[in-house]
Amino acid sequence: MPVLCVVGAQWGDEGKGKVVDLLCEYADMVVRYQGGNNAGHTVENDRGKFALHLVPSGITFPDVVAVIGNGVVIDPTVLRMEIDELEGRGVSTANLKVSGEAHLIMPYHIMLDHIQEARLGKGKIGTTGRGIGPAYSDKTSRQGVRMQDLLDPEGFRRKVMAVMEAKAEMMAKAYDQDVSSLRADCERYIKAAESLRGYVDDTSFLVWQALRAEKRVLLEGAQGTMLDLDHGTYPYVTSSNPVAGYACVGSGIGPVELTEVWGVSKAYATRVGEGPFPTELHDEVGKLMRDVGYEYGTTTGRERRCGWLDLVALRYAARINGLTGLAITKLDVLNTLDTIKVCTAYRYQGQTLKELPATQASFAQVEPIYEELPGWKSDISGVRGVNDLPRPAIDYLNFIVRQVHVPIALISVGSQRQQTIKVPHPDSRSAE
Ligand code: GDP
Ligand code: IMO
Ligand code: MG
Repeated sequence: MPVLCVVGAQWGDEGKGKVVDLLCEYADMVVRYQGGNNAGHTVENDRGKFALHLVPSGITFPDVVAVIGNGVVIDPTVLRMEIDELEGRGVSTANLKVSGEAHLIMPYHIMLDHIQEARLGKGKIGTTGRGIGPAYSDKTSRQGVRMQDLLDPEGFRRKVMAVMEAKAEMMAKAYDQDVSSLRADCERYIKAAESLRGYVDDTSFLVWQALRAEKRVLLEGAQGTMLDLDHGTYPYVTSSNPVAGYACVGSGIGPVELTEVWGVSKAYATRVGEGPFPTELHDEVGKLMRDVGYEYGTTTGRERRCGWLDLVALRYAARINGLTGLAITKLDVLNTLDTIKVCTAYRYQGQTLKELPATQASFAQVEPIYEELPGWKSDISGVRGVNDLPRPAIDYLNFIVRQVHVPIALISVGSQRQQTIKVPHPDSRSAE
């Protein structure tokens, strides 16, 4: 480490939760730096299987300080539930710290998220419906409510109710929305938020102290590069910045503190929600990926769209994040395939593109150009050493490295923590 940022290098659900859980063995602190409970990070280890939405994926390690950074938006009822579930399963949250600068998601944000999606009709984003966009909009337009506001309970209530009144009036008048439930829902949210007061801390200071003491800090991204508000497939994106640059903003550290940035990518590709996805498959192979990879949203249960690995998009993720390592996950899902296609370029208006096209409109029209590689046709889920992988699997990984120009740091061959092939030496982090 000492400061390792883990980012999604595709459209989310790459297996960040698994990778962060694994790396926490070597960490003293883990910080979630953006997103909210649109995220669903799955962790499977000796403590059981956990679907985490707000709590950092290192929470099952009692000695790792788990921080929800200022860049995260928090639905207090969801955080309350997640904490209660963890505690109920014997996982202590004594080391959980929540930034006082983190903004809260309130019932009117969720209502607005649904209204906006309904109004978009066929052009909808396909959001998770968790109020993420409206909560970040309020943050940007300075109408947000923050965790630190809880330190003055009466002021907090007044603030929430004042914003609620304004939003209710707007939603009733402009959208003819029934807003009668909002007051009671806000009361419920206020109660949940108040129960979290003990977790609130000056987290950027805590991270700074950890860095000064030369502790090892992990920064955990949510979503993925192609869902980034600035660098993703706008407007089919989330409302925050999953990319590594934001890890500093969302945790409150300076940019030169980052020592490594690992991009997590599946050995194929998935996307949930609407928006362009050049390598999407609508055939039996896509179905196989969904069935074998169990590609259903951790948060919403929606079917994930599946397709071949897109190396143009992965190269882009390497550039935008400054990736220093790749974590390739779900390699085992391809076990039974005779051949594996991988997209190395796009065709657009008769031209071959090696990079993403400049506009969103053109990205929606590109056609993938594939190379076809032999499959390995054997079960690799029990493999623990790179050299024990079948030759075609090693060739596939090396192909990725050559195309993306980023070394592989780890390979995941199953959802369990131990189903991992670590590539230990920084200077030899290719699959060779
Ligand atoms: P995240 O949002 O990036 O943390 O990813 P999700 O947890 O939403 O989705 C990844 C899914 O794949 C989860 O169900 C994981 O348990 C599972 N998973 C992670 N790595 C592997 C792997 O190498 N092989 C298989 N078969 N499943 C994996
Ligand atoms: P993790 O952290 C995959 C997608 C939604 C939708 C778009 C906007 O588990 O990888 P939003 O509710 O954020 O306004 O929805 O972003 N999306 C995700 N897709 N994984 C996620 O998180 C996602 N979080 C949001 O499906 O297309
Ligand atoms: Mg997920």
